[in-house]
Formats: sequence, C-alpha cells, structure tokens
Amino acid sequence: MDVTKIRKDFPVLNRKVNGRPLIYFDNAATSQTPTQVINTIVDYYENYNANIHRGVHALSQEATNAYEGARQKIQHHFNAAQPYEVIFTSGTTHSINIVSNGYGELLNQGDELIVSALEHHSNIVPWQMLCEKTGALLKVIPMNEDGVLLMDAYDDLLSERTKLVFVNHVSNALGTINPIEEIINKAHEVGAEVLIDGAQASPHIKADLQSINVDYYVTSAHKICGPTGIGILYGKENSLKRLPPFQGGGEMIAEVTFEKTTYAGLPHKFEAGTPNIAGGIAFGAALDYLNSIGMEKIAEYEQELLIYGTAALKKIPGLKVYGEALNKTAVISFNVQGIHPYDIGSILDKLGIAVRTGHHCAQPIMDFYRIPGTVRASFSFYNTFEEIDTMVKAVEKAVQMLK
Ligand code: ALA
Repeated sequence: MDVTKIRKDFPVLNRKVNGRPLIYFDNAATSQTPTQVINTIVDYYENYNANIHRGVHALSQEATNAYEGARQKIQHHFNAAQPYEVIFTSGTTHSINIVSNGYGELLNQGDELIVSALEHHSNIVPWQMLCEKTGALLKVIPMNEDGVLLMDAYDDLLSERTKLVFVNHVSNALGTINPIEEIINKAHEVGAEVLIDGAQASPHIKADLQSINVDYYVTSAHKICGPTGIGILYGKENSLKRLPPFQGGGEMIAEVTFEKTTYAGLPHKFEAGTPNIAGGIAFGAALDYLNSIGMEKIAEYEQELLIYGTAALKKIPGLKVYGEALNKTAVISFNVQGIHPYDIGSILDKLGIAVRTGHHCAQPIMDFYRIPGTVRASFSFYNTFEEIDTMVKAVEKAVQMLK
C-alpha cells in the first residue's frame, strides 16, 4: 500500500493545528474524506441536484439513478441478497431506532433481549426504552479484563424467551472484534433474531451479510470515508417485512385516504421524506474508494500500526492499555497512572494530535474498569508509523508536565 500516495487524496491531512502538522488519530469517531468522495458531492450539487423517485425530468432521473446505483454498490459491498434489503438512514443510531421501535409491536411482557457489556450507548438506550414500553427484560453478556465477551455466560442467557440479540461487531471504546458468527448461530438456535452494530467494523472488515446469516446489520458512512448524516439498515427481506414502519410521510406509502393508508414495499416503507441524496451517492463513492485500495490491504496495514503503536506506548512507565483482545482493530485506549485522560488529550491537541478522551459513549465499559474514561488513539490506513512516534513522544512530554 502506497500510504504517501493515499495521503494526497485527503486534503485535510495537509493542514496545521496549533502550528503543527495535523496528526489525526480520532478515526473511530469519524474518518476523513478523500477528494474522490468530496467531488461526488460537489458534482451532485453543481450538475444534477433534484428530488428522487418523483420527477419525470432529466435531473430527477439522473439523481434517482445515482442514488439507486449507490444502494446497489452497498448491496454488493456487503453481499446482501437484494438491493431493497438496504435501507438508507441518517446513520447507525437511526438504523437501530428503526428496529427497536418496530420491535415495540412484536414483543410481549417477559420476552428477553440480550445485549453485550461492550456496547456504545446507541445500542443500549433504544432497547432500554423498548423494555420500558413493553415489559421485556434486558440481559447483558459480561466481559473480562481483556475486553472479551464471556461466551459461556452468553450460552446461559439464551433461552426460548430470547427474542433479539444486539451486539457490536467491533467495540468503539476498546477495538475488540466480537465473535459475531457464533453469537448469530447460537441466537438462531433458540429462534431469536440478531442485530449487529457494524459502525466500528466497516472501516476495517467487509462483512459478508449472507454468509454470516445476520438478520439486521447497521452502519454509518462517515466512519468509512463517506459523509455524515447517512448510513444503512440492512435487514433480511422477511425481517424487514415483519417490522412496522418507523416514520410516516411521503414516499413510504402505497395509497393514502383519510380512512386508511397502506404502506409501500421495501425499501421505501422505511424511507419517509426526502432523503440525504448527495450523502447516499457519496456513500457509494466512499466504498468505491476503499475497494480501489482493497479492504484486506487496509486491514493488514492497520494491524501493523496497532502492533507498533501498542508496543511503543506500553514502554511509557505507568501507562495501561484497556482492551487486550487478541482479535482487535487499530484502536488503543489507554491511561497513565495518576493523570486524567482529558489532560493528556488537551496537551496532545496543543501539539496538533487529535485523539478522543472520555467515556466514548460506552460508560458501562468505563464502570467495569472503574475509570472515568480513557485516551483513545484510533488509526486509519492513511496514518503512518512516524505519526505514531510523534504521538508517543507527545504522551511522554504530557506525562512529564502533568506528574
Ligand atoms: N461512536 C463514535 C466514537 O466512538 C462517535 O467516537
């Protein structure tokens, strides 16, 4: 992989922050956007901005073709069986809420839902709201010190009362890659459906949705070099047909009278209102970009960055890495004894280095470790070993200043 060449595709990597060259290690929060994707958005607004599925005129048809073309690119990237199993949403959180809201009509008092200890709040809170509404019970798969789920405990939680299991493919706070195939197969054995939150996996792993046999898979474009405000809910055709619509409005109907409305088929049933058209088209362009490099090459290079960065950081006295799963993505969450993560993050920012600090919207994980938060450095394929060296020196400097 020619990282020097790849970096030229990302205009933001040329900028300075606080007088220093930007080192962007907050990729798990959002990835940077290559020129190829930015140009797709500009091209749409400059040349064929129009509403889709509605007009007979040329612009509307061009926009519709580009938007539906992007849906097909996403279908092929993730190997979904049908394009209409890919629902455009505003992002992962919206996608999860479509399913949790729909499940409000499918659950009964005493039904059980299973979540993991490694979840982002967006894969906890919607389900807690659902439990309050329906009287269903939420059970939690625990984790160990390394940030790995305890699968024996999962076996014990599963029963014929289990209706849905929702787990992330990769933990945003620790980078753990979860054994989703095992989770899915075991849930199916008791007749439960499974939703996998793929937001943190998509930048590194190309999920093959038919092969893993998942019922719902959700992700956001902005983690994978696309824009914010666009994501997908993938659902198996039968699962999506069973699920009631989330929002009512234009485009999601078959027929409307004041007496009764009937709903459109898939995917339109879940796509009320004018969507983020430029975003959808750019999502497709982002996948084209990643595939032009190759997802396997990306994953391989990022693993090298992870191994290098972990070894270098661990040499700093008092530094502890949280999340030591054997199978993890290029995320290093750490603290230095006696120093608040926010203070390290602020000094790194003064030196032009962007990391995330805090609980990372995963408070239960922080509670498990009895810490307020961590410093999280998350790498992408456009990062370099030299940037890691600079960060390690900066952390050493921060520790000297703060101790
Ligand atoms: N979920 C994103 C993160 O982990 C925002 O930073």
